[in-house]
Amino acid sequence: MLRVLFLLSAVAVVADPRCVSCHQSIVESYARTGKARSVGKPRAEVQPQRQWFHEFSGRRMGVTWGQGKMTHFMEMKGAVESYEVEWGIGSGREAKNFVVRLGDSLFISPLAWFANRMIWDMAPGYVIDANPTFYRPVSGECLQCHAGRVEAVEGSQNRFGEMTQAAIGCERCHGDMSAHLASGVAGNVVNPVRLAAAKRDAVCESCHLPGEARVANPGKKISDFRAGMAMEDVFTIYVSRRNSEDTVLRVNSHSEEWAESKCKPVWCGTCHDSHGAKVDVREKCLGCHTSMDAHRKKAGADCVGCHMPKQRPWDGSHTSRTDHWIRTAKSEQKFLDRGELLRAWREPAEEVATRNLALGYLQSAEKTRSLKRLREGLVALDSAVKRGHTDGDVALAAGLLYVRQKKADLALPWLRRAVELAPLDSLRRLHLAAALANTGRAEEARKEAVEAVRLEPLLEQSYVLLGQIEPARKEYWKDQYRKVVPKRMVP
Ligand code: HEC
Ligand code: HEC
Ligand code: HEC
Ligand code: HEC
Ligand code: HEC
Ligand code: HEC
Ligand code: HEC
Repeated sequence: MLRVLFLLSAVAVVADPRCVSCHQSIVESYARTGKARSVGKPRAEVQPQRQWFHEFSGRRMGVTWGQGKMTHFMEMKGAVESYEVEWGIGSGREAKNFVVRLGDSLFISPLAWFANRMIWDMAPGYVIDANPTFYRPVSGECLQCHAGRVEAVEGSQNRFGEMTQAAIGCERCHGDMSAHLASGVAGNVVNPVRLAAAKRDAVCESCHLPGEARVANPGKKISDFRAGMAMEDVFTIYVSRRNSEDTVLRVNSHSEEWAESKCKPVWCGTCHDSHGAKVDVREKCLGCHTSMDAHRKKAGADCVGCHMPKQRPWDGSHTSRTDHWIRTAKSEQKFLDRGELLRAWREPAEEVATRNLALGYLQSAEKTRSLKRLREGLVALDSAVKRGHTDGDVALAAGLLYVRQKKADLALPWLRRAVELAPLDSLRRLHLAAALANTGRAEEARKEAVEAVRLEPLLEQSYVLLGQIEPARKEYWKDQYRKVVPKRMVP
């Protein structure tokens, strides 16, 4: 019965009512893809409710479902904190994350649904968390890849305008629709297959190639990218590089794996119908590999089973599960080592290449704690600055590097510049406030942190920092924070 309900709810989605009149079959078939349900209102899962004890935090966790509403809660020593869930991320082929809302700020729930195990459990990243909370910001990056259309409030970490299109829609692969909707004819809308190979592939890569780091060009945001654009005109993706020290390739995406395959000329669309129609992949293999009779007799007909085996992801959900590197050797060989040096997936224009590389190294060094990447980033940033790059992102990176080296005096001018160039950015203000506090400029530090609170009242770090700047008022700032998250269980 539950299965039937699931199918019905899947078909009931109308991917884009504006296109139905002229492209009905595509709209209907697209509605059955995971993409068409990539973000949506929560619904009853196969296991609608569950409560369990999370040893690591000593809390009881739970999910309830009733009257069309999903609630996540945690309980400790009689205190209960609960939230109604606003959105689910992921169609649930593998797993789903959940989003709760306070005002216009979105946060990720520490509880997740695992379709593969058919069970509710701690979300990835919260399993060994002694103090799991409902207050980790949902980043714009998440929604950039998972949601159809949503505007982030400028400078904020996790404040968003209305989600005008929750799930991924036609525009993400076909670009701006206004001309085509005014006059429904061929030629006035982006069709990926008619683009040059690099631009065509960029459409899929914009979401299917997370890379080690993604760096927007000066003055650009990653969300400025649209189907039909050259990716390098907007942002650069950095991936691990193979080199003499790093002998084995590490890949974390379908795009990287596929690029290693010798089968040419093939692109993602050779084996995947973007609108959800079934493709017989074996037929595609045999379309190119025509003299396979002997091999077939010896090896069998399951080309995909042997040459594109299923594999266990090494780091959670964002790794390819079907090996897309078609080859004759075994597939486990490549996960032994990881290249620490980076290379641009598509080289950006010469004048921003060093700057982007520097920011790529520093971004990934922060995520992976790689000292090698940090060092590479330092050198590259130095040369980018010498070449005259002083935009906001460079200024922030330079400031943070000096902070790290405990040279707060050198950090200040950079951080001040970073804030000047983006006065609405709460996190930049917070970094500046911390550096000011470290150099004994308490009053100025307080002003910046208070401004950060004004810009983004739900950012816990601001209150913590204010408590450090004004030790005498530590309790006061704690109280101020409690006021904006009144439900929060005090650990
Ligand atoms: C008034 C009818 C009409 C509407 C509404 C309409 N289209 Fe079309 N579309 C057409 C016609 C006619 C063609 C050209 C023939 C074809 O490819 O089917 C076309 C072609 C296309 C193409 C291929 C273009 C090419 O050059 O290869 C895409 C992509 C497309 N439409 C997407 C959409 C999307 C997405 C929507 C909804 C946002 C939409 N269309 C709404 C009539 C329409
Ligand atoms: C806006 C981001 C985005 C773009 C652009 C994008 N994808 Fe996806 N794709 C996703 C997400 C997110 C999922 C997972 C959806 C889910 O199940 O929740 C997905 C799922 C898939 C799947 C798994 C099957 C399915 O239907 O869910 C395939 C295959 C796929 N994409 C291929 C492609 C190809 C080929 C392109 C380029 C033509 C492309 N995608 C462009 C984000 C994107
Ligand atoms: C660079 C784009 C990108 C970013 C950033 C990203 N995702 Fe994904 N995510 C994908 C794609 C593409 C898939 C599906 C294909 C795959 O697994 O490779 C996916 C799969 C998932 C799935 C599994 C869906 C399913 O059932 O198969 C979940 C859950 C998920 N992402 C949650 C998140 C959350 C939460 C964040 C932010 C912390 C995030 N993702 C950030 C692109 C992205
Ligand atoms: C993941 C990317 C992606 C999404 C999302 C997507 N399309 Fe497409 N679309 C493509 C690709 C790729 C082609 C070219 C297919 C081919 O010719 O191999 C295409 C082709 C088309 C065409 C031309 C006719 C045809 O059958 O090839 C139409 C019409 C169209 N899409 C409509 C839509 C509509 C309507 C939606 C939303 C409901 C949509 N597409 C969503 C990738 C996408
Ligand atoms: C568009 C044509 C095309 C398609 C489709 C295609 N291949 Fe290939 N494949 C090639 C070409 C070209 C080569 C390189 C041949 C060479 O180097 O002699 C190749 C090479 C290979 C190799 C040898 C790889 C190596 O490391 O030496 C294998 C195995 C292979 N293909 C399997 C497959 C399988 C399995 C499929 C279907 C899932 C497939 N191919 C689909 C064109 C294609
Ligand atoms: C030679 C055929 C082929 C090509 C080319 C290809 N894929 Fe796949 N892909 C497959 C097969 C086969 C599966 C497994 C399908 C299944 O289990 O239903 C798959 C599965 C996937 C999935 C689902 C998650 C997983 O890993 O099982 C995603 C996402 C995906 N491909 C994305 C891509 C992207 C992005 C590209 C282009 C970079 C691409 N594929 C190119 C054959 C191909
Ligand atoms: C039982 C696993 C298995 C199956 C099934 C299988 N292969 Fe292979 N294939 C291999 C192995 C192992 C090699 C390398 C050794 C060899 O050449 O026999 C290989 C080699 C190849 C090569 C490169 C060498 C050559 O003969 O040109 C191609 C191309 C290829 N396979 C395509 C296919 C296609 C297409 C199918 C589906 C009809 C298929 N394979 C089915 C295991 C398999």
